[in-house]
Amino acid sequence: MSAQTLSIFCVLAVILTIANAAFIPLNYKNCKSVFPIKAVRVENGEISDDHAVFKRGSKPVIQIQFEATADTPSLTASVRSKMAGGSAFSNFALAADDACAAGNLTCPLTSGNDYWYSQSVTIADTYPIVNGVQVNWALSSEGKAREVCIIFLANIIE
Ligand SMILES: *[C@@H]1O[C@H](CO)[C@@H](O)[C@H](O)[C@H]1NC(C)=O
Repeated sequence: MSAQTLSIFCVLAVILTIANAAFIPLNYKNCKSVFPIKAVRVENGEISDDHAVFKRGSKPVIQIQFEATADTPSLTASVRSKMAGGSAFSNFALAADDACAAGNLTCPLTSGNDYWYSQSVTIADTYPIVNGVQVNWALSSEGKAREVCIIFLANIIE
C-alpha cells in the first residue's frame, strides 16, 4: 500500500469515527410514557457523570426513539426545566413545538412503527452556568396522557 493510499484510508477512518460519534446515548428516566421509549440520544453535546453537558452558544439535538402503539394524528412538545435543588419548573420555549412539523416525525403516526423524534435547542450565551438542571421533555396529543415523557439531567458550561 502506498503512502498516499494509506493516508486516504486514515482520513476515511477519521470521518467514519466522527459520523458514528454524532448521536450519543443519554441516560434518562421514563416519566410514565404511554409509548415505549427505545433510546434517547444527544448530538452536539457530551456526557459526564450521566449528565448531558451543553456548551453556551451551542445547538445540541435531542433525539428520542419510540414506538407508536396507537395511531396518533399529532404531537406537541413541551419542555420544562428545574434547577438542582429548586422546586419551581420553568418553561423552555422551543423554536417550534409542533413535533410533526419540526421534530422529524411523519404525522399521523402509525401504530407499530418506530419514530426518531429529533429537535435542536439553542443554549443561549446568557444561560447560567449550572450543574444538574432537571429537564422534562414531553410529547403529547390531545389528551392528558403524555405519549412520550423523559427526564434527564444537564450541565451548562462556558
Ligand atoms: C429521522 O427519522 C428517520 C426515520 O423516519 C431516521 O432514520 C432518522 O435517523 C431521523 N433523523 C434524526 C436526525 O433523528
